[in-house]
Amino acid sequence: MPHPYRLADEATIPSPALVFYPEFIRRNVARVVEMAGDPARLRPHVKTHKSREIVRLQLAAGVTKHKCATIAEAEVLASAGAPDVLLAYPVLGPTADRLAKLAALFPGTQFSALVDGTESLAGLSSAARAHPLGAFLDLNVGMDRTGVIIGNAAADLYARTAATPNLTPRGLHAYDGQNHQGLPADRAAAVEATLRTVLAFRDRLHREVAPCEVVVCGGTPNFPMYAALTAVPGLECSPGTYVLHDHGYGSRYPDFTGITPAAVLLTRVIAKPTPTRVTLDLGHKAVAADPLLANRVRLLGVPDHTVVGHSEEHLMIETAHAAAFDIGRVVYALPGHVCPTCALHREALIAEGGRVVGAWAIAARDRLLTA
Ligand SMILES: Cc1ncc(COP(=O)(O)O)c(C=O)c1O
Repeated sequence: MPHPYRLADEATIPSPALVFYPEFIRRNVARVVEMAGDPARLRPHVKTHKSREIVRLQLAAGVTKHKCATIAEAEVLASAGAPDVLLAYPVLGPTADRLAKLAALFPGTQFSALVDGTESLAGLSSAARAHPLGAFLDLNVGMDRTGVIIGNAAADLYARTAATPNLTPRGLHAYDGQNHQGLPADRAAAVEATLRTVLAFRDRLHREVAPCEVVVCGGTPNFPMYAALTAVPGLECSPGTYVLHDHGYGSRYPDFTGITPAAVLLTRVIAKPTPTRVTLDLGHKAVAADPLLANRVRLLGVPDHTVVGHSEEHLMIETAHAAAFDIGRVVYALPGHVCPTCALHREALIAEGGRVVGAWAIAARDRLLTA
């Protein structure tokens, strides 16, 4: 079966390897800019790819605001030239000093982080003693992961944030990863219900407490819904996965059209222990194991296969077509979940014109860079 990922020089590429296709990455970036209508409505998450080169492709497309979850990701963003970086995480313990150090190292970048309670406000204000920082109030809009519930205590926290020296309140962070319903109409209704309460709260804060104009919402599954709400001022969409996309989202959200998977794994058949069993060198040290076994990878050009086992360096499939897959043969696989897959690799090979032309570092896979 033909697919667009085959490399003419595959025989020379050690496996397993992560391969990026910049042509598709550029296309995916252009697609979300087009859907948003304006790159100023985007604040993509860097966690999917953790690479400076993809940040630069986004900057070239006019995207100037970014989101991250770790200090290393914040550093990768700033060092690639991102002017506005939101660390979408509470600042606690040694992270305060690291954030202060980063802000001093990259004076051309405005850094912000989340506040969702007394402890995270204390951490962020301690970092801000050394350098002015921005603060977003993190709302728990139903994911029950981080954030404060909308109400008086949240309004009080925003007021305390606004009164903290060197901290500028910048708005609300309302990540609603739980709004990922399979049916687009259900997802749209859930997004609308979430956004209604968030916007009412934002207006109240802006009127009664402190300036509050921005609200950062959503990931990839509900991006089409948020992108369509062009009349809502100050709405920033924060998809991450879209840029590389993966088999998991691709199969669950076919309504998000115009996006192409841009990262594949190059793997090899290493054994055929039974007439219907094929073993590949694609263990869970090379492809993320968080999806269910059945959804962990999609092998391209291998009809009717079932993943039946996965260990550190081996992936086992059953297929009636095993005879066609000689030992040593290269197979291409779409990861079920691309974000943790990237973090398993030090670098991604870069494919242009059907050949490997270089490599990009997955720079923020290391937890400690400079800061
Ligand atoms: C806070 C936050 N924002 C944005 C995203 C991006 O979501 P997605 O991976 O669906 O694009 C995530 C994903 O984990 C997230 O945790």
